[in-house]
Amino acid sequence: MRHLIDPMDLSVQEIDDLLALAEDIIANHDKYTKVCEGKKLATLFFEPSTRTRLSFEAAMMELGGNVLGFSSADSSSSTKGESVADTVKVVSCYADIIAMRHPKEGAPYLASLKSDAPIINAGDGGHNHPTQTLTDLLTIKREKGHLGDITIGFCGDLKFGRTVHSLIKALSRYDNIQYIMISPEELEIPEYIKEEVFEKKNIAYEQVRTIDEVIDRLDVLYMTRVQRERFFNEADYIRLKDTYILDMPKLKNAKPDLSILHPLPRVNEIAVEVDDDPRACYFRQALNGKYVRMALIMTMLGLTGQ
Ligand code: NCD
Repeated sequence: MRHLIDPMDLSVQEIDDLLALAEDIIANHDKYTKVCEGKKLATLFFEPSTRTRLSFEAAMMELGGNVLGFSSADSSSSTKGESVADTVKVVSCYADIIAMRHPKEGAPYLASLKSDAPIINAGDGGHNHPTQTLTDLLTIKREKGHLGDITIGFCGDLKFGRTVHSLIKALSRYDNIQYIMISPEELEIPEYIKEEVFEKKNIAYEQVRTIDEVIDRLDVLYMTRVQRERFFNEADYIRLKDTYILDMPKLKNAKPDLSILHPLPRVNEIAVEVDDDPRACYFRQALNGKYVRMALIMTMLGLTGQ
């Protein structure tokens, strides 16, 4: 039995196969509507979510399967003091596959040691978010036609943003990617990403403080919100939260085929006026998340289309 805890749990070939399956699901949706009949997905969300939980549930429903679960720690027995390990041990008696989000880094990994069903990490603290990474990769592939040979700018909270950490790890295995990190000093990517990904693999990256100085070079701009819930004090959050606001004047020097991604939810970092620009991909990206999760559920359950 395999779990998906870290994006590096998947080989490049497995990622390419998942993206190809997601694209086939998009093209031939009807072929897949009964694939998961009789199967159950449990979504155990100890931390808030809109897209990830609902797209997992929609994905399972569109495959003909059923869903059960909870959407906040308050509505589970963790309020009575039950350990994550016990919760998962029990839920794995009821469900065939489990998607789990938790505020503590490593919680889905610990759960996977006890679970009798495959566990998918749906986000653990500031650490990893492998299914958002699959969503992001599918979006880059569909928008650009390929995953290598791009200049990508990551902007915002690169310290606490788990989607950034996971996407950097996954992209580090594709060729000829230029990385530009756009953040305030306090929100730079963590040392372990610098050391374990960039330095270990001899990948060059730039660190800059403004969007303006690099916007004309970017093929992909990955915007992120400042992760309020992971700050130790509110004053720092308030000081940093509006550091970057992408609006139409900021896009003046951008390439005509720039792809703007954002894992969402957005707070202020992208002005609503940008939504109507064809370069804004973030709502298409959210839709891709459902298809890639359909591909993932099928693959982890060992099922194929009819
Ligand atoms: C992200 C997350 O939960 O890390 N959201 C998501 O899953 N689409 C990004 C965020 O919360 O900022």
